[in-house]
Amino acid sequence: MTKRWRDIGSLYQIYPRSFQDTTGDGVGDLNGITARLNYLSCLGIEAIWISPFFTSPMTDFGYDVANYRDVDPTFGAVDDFRRLIAEAHARNIKVMIDLVPCHTSDQHPWFVESRSSLDNPKRDYYVWKDPKPDDSPPNNWRSQSGGRAWTLDEKTGQYYLHSFLYTQPDLNWDNPAVRREITDVVRFWFDMGVDGMRVDAIWGISKDPEFGDDSPNPHPPHDLEQYGAFIHDHCKYGPHFAEYLREIASVCDEFEDRQLVFEFYPDEQLGNIYEQYRQVIHAHPRGSAFFMEHRHMSWHAQNTRDAILEYMHRSVGNAIPFFCLGNHDQPRVVSRLDYERARALNFLNLLTPGISVVYYGDEIGMENGVLDATQLRDNFSPANSTVDSRDLERTPMQWSDSQFADFSTAEQWLPVHANRVSVNVTKQTNETRSMLTMHQTLLKLRQAMPILVHGSL
Ligand code: NOJ
Repeated sequence: MTKRWRDIGSLYQIYPRSFQDTTGDGVGDLNGITARLNYLSCLGIEAIWISPFFTSPMTDFGYDVANYRDVDPTFGAVDDFRRLIAEAHARNIKVMIDLVPCHTSDQHPWFVESRSSLDNPKRDYYVWKDPKPDDSPPNNWRSQSGGRAWTLDEKTGQYYLHSFLYTQPDLNWDNPAVRREITDVVRFWFDMGVDGMRVDAIWGISKDPEFGDDSPNPHPPHDLEQYGAFIHDHCKYGPHFAEYLREIASVCDEFEDRQLVFEFYPDEQLGNIYEQYRQVIHAHPRGSAFFMEHRHMSWHAQNTRDAILEYMHRSVGNAIPFFCLGNHDQPRVVSRLDYERARALNFLNLLTPGISVVYYGDEIGMENGVLDATQLRDNFSPANSTVDSRDLERTPMQWSDSQFADFSTAEQWLPVHANRVSVNVTKQTNETRSMLTMHQTLLKLRQAMPILVHGSL
């Protein structure tokens, strides 16, 4: 590898189910990513981040991991991944993968053991609590997927905590054995040649040791069972947040040029806590927090400028900025704004210092998918609907105008957007003013002019 993380200018996020299918089952796979590396290389991409491809029952499409060290057959096998790394490195493209450290699948052997009895040695790998005297859950914490964050295990009579779906029990990071397990997972992939990790949902890694109730939100949503009914001042950012984070990040020090980037969203309700922790993350030389502010920003140059400058300012030490416009959890940028504004924002994002993150398909201006209720696949949110499902930003990559957009040869797991006829890679490759050509021009410029990566605004 020639360039170091500090010197690269771009990161391309791949949602593996939706990038390229090579087996004809309608779901993308690792060999599909390898097959498209030339495209990414010609585009000027210098690193890719692949969302989870580990063994999983897929209740949260891979963010429910049942084996951290293996590839789910949907996506191929470990040898396919080794080949992907080799082929990416041959093109000077770094490979980042997801680390999901705060919860596993309920099918993970650790949880199967943990729930088997009160005195199982793995009991303390997860967060178990007795019911209150009236049998209700231990506190008022809500799941980010809606409803209570506690599910009663009838057999052992205790509740387990799940900050997301009930199929995603929270790991107990206060248990040193759990911390060793997860840091060993990081070592496993780094040993294989992985260059970095995007760290999922890090805010819940430490919680209030007293498990106190979260405070009521003064402006609650209609449904008080929802996450938004409370300010999350006890269920996240606990007293060991910085310490556990450093423990993960310090694995990077055992290797050459490895990088972590933490999932992180502005949380106005938590104000200072949020700012304090962004600084904690950036304080480790190998840690960064994504800049996600664009997703909710009102359209005004001053707002945009202020938010970017503030993030740069808070990138204390030498933290590498990671500027995002969207991801697999956010509506597509073209659908949030409109085509011209999205083009302008992409233009800006490709000229900011640090690393410009491109979500697959945004380089051709893909829009949110159009799905009917029978086509929805994501179970994450109770309000999951054809208007706000995360499926909308996960539809197949539009390589061409053909029936399956050259993504697959068969019916896809989510339907390809009807606008593939005009919005596709093949067409835009030949157009001088397309979104794709603009991306390629600016990404190449970032490669050629280090001042775009290292300069100030
Ligand atoms: C954040 C991930 O980006 C999202 O897709 C997932 O559902 C949750 N974390 C839970 O892991």
